[in-house]
Amino acid sequence: MAPSLRPLHKLFVAEARGIDLTRKLTADLAAEIEAAMDRHAVLVFPDQPIDEDQQVAFTEWFGPLDTGLLKVFKRKSRFKHGAMIAIGNVNADGEVVEPGERLIVSQMANQLWHSDSSFQRVPGKYSILAAQVVPASGGDTEWVDQRAAHDALPEDLRALAEGRVAEHSAFYTRLWLGDTYSEAELAIMPLVRWPLVRTHPGSGRRTLFLGAHAQAVVGMSRAEGRMLLRELTEHATQPAFVYRHQWRPGDVVMWDNRCTLHRGRRYDLAARRELRRTTSEDLISAREQWVA
Ligand code: OGA
Ligand code: MN
Repeated sequence: MAPSLRPLHKLFVAEARGIDLTRKLTADLAAEIEAAMDRHAVLVFPDQPIDEDQQVAFTEWFGPLDTGLLKVFKRKSRFKHGAMIAIGNVNADGEVVEPGERLIVSQMANQLWHSDSSFQRVPGKYSILAAQVVPASGGDTEWVDQRAAHDALPEDLRALAEGRVAEHSAFYTRLWLGDTYSEAELAIMPLVRWPLVRTHPGSGRRTLFLGAHAQAVVGMSRAEGRMLLRELTEHATQPAFVYRHQWRPGDVVMWDNRCTLHRGRRYDLAARRELRRTTSEDLISAREQWVA
């Protein structure tokens, strides 16, 4: 049965009901979900208390699992699946961490507009985030659709961005936030280059491809490139483009990293926030859009 969809924003995002994510998908249903994703870019599935196995099985319909920065940090995990990513402030022992702990740097980095794993040779396609425990207030997550942002670009800015290439680094935001890395860690993820404007493989629409991991524009000075990235990001994240999700335990939200940006919002770090993320690999962009 196809899920029923209800738009939650005038430009993108739909709530999907009438589907049970605790059960195995069929190829038909996975294709329906992919078609809905191509159109809406973010799907909200309320009341889906999936477990780890179910989340992994669901994600794998959409590509191999991406392990993102787990490749660099190699932290202890509270999850049995190696590709499950902890979002929030709970450590491997299930405790709320101290605000000064290194884990919090990653969580703070997530509060900058970004696209998951845009810093990798194989970037993220779909991310799936499942909420277990959320604070009483704060800790919402926001998304924007970079296709809608592209369509609304002023002509001069569109002309500046078109044909340009940005460098994305896993460490740019984290160094800015005060973290430090060994040469060996830095070497695990050399920077990668993506067109600033490209075609979204799912919908054929033109899209911006920005995010906090973009640290430079090829062929521009540092200063000029960073200001262009800043101006494009300010344009793309205007309030009218933003969908804000207030989490409830059991919510599952799925988004397309190829054409959206997202960020977490501030919350009281002493309040427990516990979510679980899986991401599938974007093999198409890796093959067709990577710039050597
Ligand atoms: C993520 C992410 C932001 C948040 O799960 O990839 O960036 O709400 N989350 O914590
Ligand atoms: Mn993220």
